[in-house]
Amino acid sequence: MKKFIFAFILFALLLTVNAAPFQLNKRATTFGSCPYPYVDSLNVTMVTDPPKSEKSDSFNVSGNLTQVDITKNQTLLEIFYCNPDGSQIGDYYSQVFNESIKAGTQFTVTASDVPTPKLPDSYLILVIIGDKDNDPSNPYHVVLYACVVADVV
Ligand SMILES: *[C@@H]1O[C@H](CO)[C@@H](O)[C@H](O)[C@H]1NC(C)=O
Ligand SMILES: *[C@@H]1O[C@H](CO)[C@@H](O)[C@H](O)[C@H]1NC(C)=O
Ligand SMILES: *[C@@H]1O[C@H](CO)[C@@H](O)[C@H](O)[C@H]1NC(C)=O
Ligand SMILES: *[C@@H]1O[C@H](CO)[C@@H](O)[C@H](O)[C@H]1NC(C)=O
Ligand SMILES: *[C@@H]1O[C@H](CO)[C@@H](O)[C@H](O)[C@H]1NC(C)=O
Repeated sequence: MKKFIFAFILFALLLTVNAAPFQLNKRATTFGSCPYPYVDSLNVTMVTDPPKSEKSDSFNVSGNLTQVDITKNQTLLEIFYCNPDGSQIGDYYSQVFNESIKAGTQFTVTASDVPTPKLPDSYLILVIIGDKDNDPSNPYHVVLYACVVADVV
């Protein structure tokens, strides 16, 4: 009987230890609209959520551009990681659309191999759709058509 109790306590302890880090990390990333007028919103889900520092992640991005068409081989999906002050962390991810999509049409696009930079404790994730802007002072490199941001703390 004593042996049985010991095994049970050990088992319970193992369960607690395994569950603890999982609960600490249990925070689904929530994306909200960017503070710009005339820019559409998007729904974003990630396979690894929250993302793991210096691994890669997969993003599903869906939405409906209300003003403009998405142009095949031209319109870009971009993903930026930033510090809470807005400064960029590492390189940004960019992927060109492989199909044209008319304004007012629901679409989903997958970015399946997005490298995650070395992440600080708090950071922002920006997901953007737009057409290339050659103005070097534009930090997003595109004219924004859609944009959402998540504040991960
Ligand atoms: C992303 O979309 C694909 C295809 O629609 C689906 O199989 C996958 O489960 C989605 N992933 C997430 C994280 O929503
Ligand atoms: C995001 O998903 C919700 C729930 O499915 C939907 O009501 C909303 O219209 C979607 N937003 C966009 C921009 O697609
Ligand atoms: C799109 O880009 C691919 C690869 O760069 C090229 O093969 C294809 O011809 C392009 N299509 C159009 C419509 O420009
Ligand atoms: C675009 O790429 C996705 C995968 O990234 C693929 O599922 C889809 O069939 C492609 N569409 C076209 C028109 O090539
Ligand atoms: C996309 O947005 C337009 C304008 O708001 C709306 O009329 C249309 O019904 C939407 N389409 C879908 C598929 O949500």
